[in-house]
Amino acid sequence: MPRRSADSRLFSPHRIRGLELPNRVVVPPMAQYSAIDGIANAHHLVHYGKFAMGGAGTVFLEATGVTRAGRITNGCLGLWSDAHRDAMRPIVDFLKANGTIPAIQLGHGGRKASMQRPWHGNGPLTDTDLARGDECWPIIAPSALPLDDGWLEPRAMDARDLQETGDAFADAARRAVEAGFEIVEIHMAHGYLLQTFLSPLSNRRSDAYGGDRDGRMRFPLEVAARVRAAIPDAMPLFVRISSIDGIDGGWTLDDSVVLARELKARGVDVIDCSSGGNSPKGATNTNLRRGPGFQVPFADRIRNEADIQTMAVGLIRDAGHAEEILRAGQADLIAVGRQHLFDPFWTLHQAHDEDRDPDFTEWPQAYGWWLEKWDKGIKASR
Ligand SMILES: Cc1cc2nc3c(=O)[nH]c(=O)nc-3n(C[C@H](O)[C@H](O)[C@H](O)COP(=O)(O)O)c2cc1C
Repeated sequence: MPRRSADSRLFSPHRIRGLELPNRVVVPPMAQYSAIDGIANAHHLVHYGKFAMGGAGTVFLEATGVTRAGRITNGCLGLWSDAHRDAMRPIVDFLKANGTIPAIQLGHGGRKASMQRPWHGNGPLTDTDLARGDECWPIIAPSALPLDDGWLEPRAMDARDLQETGDAFADAARRAVEAGFEIVEIHMAHGYLLQTFLSPLSNRRSDAYGGDRDGRMRFPLEVAARVRAAIPDAMPLFVRISSIDGIDGGWTLDDSVVLARELKARGVDVIDCSSGGNSPKGATNTNLRRGPGFQVPFADRIRNEADIQTMAVGLIRDAGHAEEILRAGQADLIAVGRQHLFDPFWTLHQAHDEDRDPDFTEWPQAYGWWLEKWDKGIKASR
């Protein structure tokens, strides 16, 4: 039984507020760049649906723009209207019907909005992109600092922008609840709007929303409070952070511990510990050496120093490694990203490899009935 095994943390349920997650496996947000005008379509249903059929306990929909101009690329999902909400309902319903918790990441691209899809270059939009039908739009950020030479220069947000953006996060969170999502995550990582408020590299404001760390945290914390107030008390709220900028003079892990405490005080339940991205060299670029579990030390320190649940992410590819992280008290949840692109049935396969579900009872019924006989037949013929 992969989803309920007493001797496995990974495959046992986990409660956060009023929600029971069937296991600790999470598919983290992974943008598909496949929406038109932010509206979800059959690609998203099949893409996310596969992970639910594959046994993941929780599936996050990708970074979803709280405003049209807050989309990272022309292909990103949005939740700025009720039509966007309604297009997500079939996905939510399918995930629930397959025993998976539907979750969504809400974000705003800030100075990395209005950029190319990764496979078109991962940089600023070019004439070739516009000829392809992509649209380029004006962008906003804490300060008028482009990401790099050749990137769009954002307009520094004024009081009205701050108000409207906070409203947009709250409205999108309300729509997420209406669509049936059971977890909301705020994107405060990877060089997008809220992380650029946090980092001294991208926030040079001289008003109450800049300056020292308290000032730089002010707007992200206001957004967290707005989102918390917009969702039911029983619903878990996650925040994804870049635990470090990984750039000299940038945001540090000490800063993240302080931020996590402040987020907890505003009703955030889980810190999803990523890193990097506040540079033009890639969505999550840092100076970190990447090996298995390279961001686990961030989840560990934040969990144990800020006394808040954490999710570990980054090159965690097998259940044994995931179990070690959980047992060592380094994190409460394990996000498995690209390995799920490689194997959407990762959870069920790992459980099968550990001989936890020899009869395929946890598989979708329309597969399991056949696989049980198929497997026995193969074994008998050996
Ligand atoms: C195709 C793709 C799209 C991604 N999109 C997002 C996203 O929308 N939001 C986000 O916070 N991280 C995003 N990420 C980062 C992943 O959530 C994850 O943190 C990263 O892939 C590291 O985990 P892994 O080694 O298990 O893949 C994306 C990663 C990939 C591969």
